[in-house]
Amino acid sequence: MNERAPTAATAEIVAELVRSELRALSAYAVARAEGMIKLDAMENPYALPAAVAARLGDALARVPINRYPDGAAEDAKRALRQALAIPDAHGLLLGNGSDELIQLIASTLARPGATMLIPEPSFVMYRMSALNTGLRVAGVSLNGDFSLNLQAMLDAIEREHPALVFLAYPNNPTGNLFAASEVEAILRATPGLVVVDEAYYAFAEASFLSRVGEFRNLLVLRTLSKVGMAGIRLGYAVAPRDWIDELNKLRPPYNVNAFTQAAIGALLADTAWIAEQAAAIRAERARLQAAMARLPGVQVYPTQTNFIVARFSKGNDIFEGLKAKRILIKNLDGWHPLLARCLRITVGTPSENDMLLSALAELTDRP
Ligand SMILES: Cc1ncc(COP(=O)(O)O)c(C=O)c1O
Repeated sequence: MNERAPTAATAEIVAELVRSELRALSAYAVARAEGMIKLDAMENPYALPAAVAARLGDALARVPINRYPDGAAEDAKRALRQALAIPDAHGLLLGNGSDELIQLIASTLARPGATMLIPEPSFVMYRMSALNTGLRVAGVSLNGDFSLNLQAMLDAIEREHPALVFLAYPNNPTGNLFAASEVEAILRATPGLVVVDEAYYAFAEASFLSRVGEFRNLLVLRTLSKVGMAGIRLGYAVAPRDWIDELNKLRPPYNVNAFTQAAIGALLADTAWIAEQAAAIRAERARLQAAMARLPGVQVYPTQTNFIVARFSKGNDIFEGLKAKRILIKNLDGWHPLLARCLRITVGTPSENDMLLSALAELTDRP
């Protein structure tokens, strides 16, 4: 049986029917990493502590998988509220990763002619969600030091009246935390919803979570992905209930599967392990930053995330050299003019970081 036989005919009908802006894109590429030291995807490098893993195993074994999950994910939400001190007064929405929530938020606000405002470079899924939903994008370049260009943002707000602004706080892929006063200025000036995306909250010195409700247009987005639980795909949005009620209408009914819902209770029954692993990552981050700053031809940028961005005089060579040594990081060169020769390195375990540093020392020393 030839399963791919009608290729020519299929290509024709695909070309005719699929949206042209989608055909021009490539699918989000996840690099293959078998056998490599994986420092490319902002994952937490540590395994679950044994006691937490045992609790998880018990909880998952009891999941009745013949049934659909609880559509409202009530138990999971209760566990999340308790573990993260999210007040009952605020609305809470769970997603299949925060990626799904980004998509949902964009869909909800994509009235004809509506605009999304984003600083750039920022998280790539914001632009992708605009493309998917037909939102216009107004992109405002960051300053050379990756800080917000506040005046340009305020001018764009005045000009574009955005229905939606995404601010990654701290920002990916640059790693820095924007000034809180500038985020506040954007919240006050924007007529639309401002999403403060705190994917890296565990590694940052500031948060807007406690300020939900203070602004009528603030939604804080978070994820468990960077704190050791990327595999369960759980993102959450916290905002005044009026916003969450509307977003909830577009949410697919069973978007958080039964295993993930059961896992949340088991994983968050105590959160000390999360704080301990995050502290270990922050300590390793400081060690890596200091060691990298001593290398020739390397400019290390400030970070409040679990990754480090640095500009290398030999950016692509370093990336390829590390790959040849079976160390996978992210090459940001070509993503945006501000990121020329920049590489993004996720903080690993101490031994992974040692291997990275000795590889970097060798590669940056080469003529
Ligand atoms: C700023 C930011 N927001 C959201 C996400 C998506 O996270 P999730 O794994 O919850 O989909 C990422 C992932 O890299 C991110 O950097």
